[in-house]
Amino acid sequence: ASLQRLNTLAVPATARYLVEVENAVQLKQALCWADDHEQSVLVLGGGSNLVFAGDYPGLVILMALRGRSWERVDDHGAVLVLKAGENWHEAVLYAARSGYRGIENLALIPGTAGAAPVQNIGAYGTELCDCLESVTVLNRQTLEVENLPASACEFGYRDSLFKHRPGCYIILEIRLRLSRDASLNIGYRDLQDYFGDVNEAELTPLAVAEAVMAVRHRKLPDPAVLPNVGSFFKNPVIGLTQFRGLQARFPDVVSYPADSQVKLAAAWLIDQAGWKGFRNSRVGVHNRQALVLINHSGGTGQDVLSLADDVRQSVLEKFGVELEMEPGIVGNA
Ligand code: EPU
Repeated sequence: ASLQRLNTLAVPATARYLVEVENAVQLKQALCWADDHEQSVLVLGGGSNLVFAGDYPGLVILMALRGRSWERVDDHGAVLVLKAGENWHEAVLYAARSGYRGIENLALIPGTAGAAPVQNIGAYGTELCDCLESVTVLNRQTLEVENLPASACEFGYRDSLFKHRPGCYIILEIRLRLSRDASLNIGYRDLQDYFGDVNEAELTPLAVAEAVMAVRHRKLPDPAVLPNVGSFFKNPVIGLTQFRGLQARFPDVVSYPADSQVKLAAAWLIDQAGWKGFRNSRVGVHNRQALVLINHSGGTGQDVLSLADDVRQSVLEKFGVELEMEPGIVGNA
């Protein structure tokens, strides 16, 4: 079965077997089938955070569990429950339109609700873990359904338990603690510029979601038009001593404080290394956001990974900083 339309980089790859599951029972059946037939399993959401290096030799399970509901509604807030296969951006709009605050800064992030905790999606000063209450998972070993509170999910910047222990848990649903009266987070530079001197108290969560959408439309390519997987690298975190050395050589280096360390804008490093807008016959670096790699025309996963390698190498040579890939790599090379 072809996976080309099931990954937002649109690279050509196939799965030996492919099945779509709509509930936990079907999921368990698929897993048992894979065990019986000694097939490895790849659980796929929106396919927006992985690169197929080649074909997948086992069973790909497409998570199509749908449904949203509210729990513990009171005057101040409620818990929004999303099944794993719900489209993330639709859920953000739904919450914002319903007057709930908490995830409006995460508008337009591609992918599904079930994939959101894996990389702890984050944008414009908000991370999923800021409002995630718990995750319902299927334990792959015991086939038991478990509830993991956010405190057990080992969340970090683009990081979680689900990255630390790949294949152990399959996310079935997530619970988000949303508020009707919390303040809106418009401190990120792009949002400040968008709103000018508008008072935060006059804004609605929907207005913030719309601002985020406008900013993203301006900078980030729509995967349906220019296939991509969002930021291809994490923003690297380095120690203060290394940072001071870097700053002495490059006074304009873009950075943010990160506890006792410093987070660098990978986009700036890649941009300064001359890659922004670069393209060969198949793949390239986006011309408005250097952190995004694009499959322009018939590129394979190998084409993308080889470009990523060139970018990483040149940033290492120029700045002495190692870039770490953000999306996962799957499939046989
Ligand atoms: N910059 C450049 N050249 C560029 C782009 C940016 O020099 O081509 C510099 C600018 O100075 C800019 C700074 O880099 O101020 C940061 O850029 P931006 O605000 O676009 O954010 P980012 O650090 O590149 C991160 C996330 C994005 C998220 C934005 C907004 C990561 C890996 N990426 O990007 O997440 O949307 O912040 O919060 O943390 C994703 O993970 O797929 C993603 C798109």
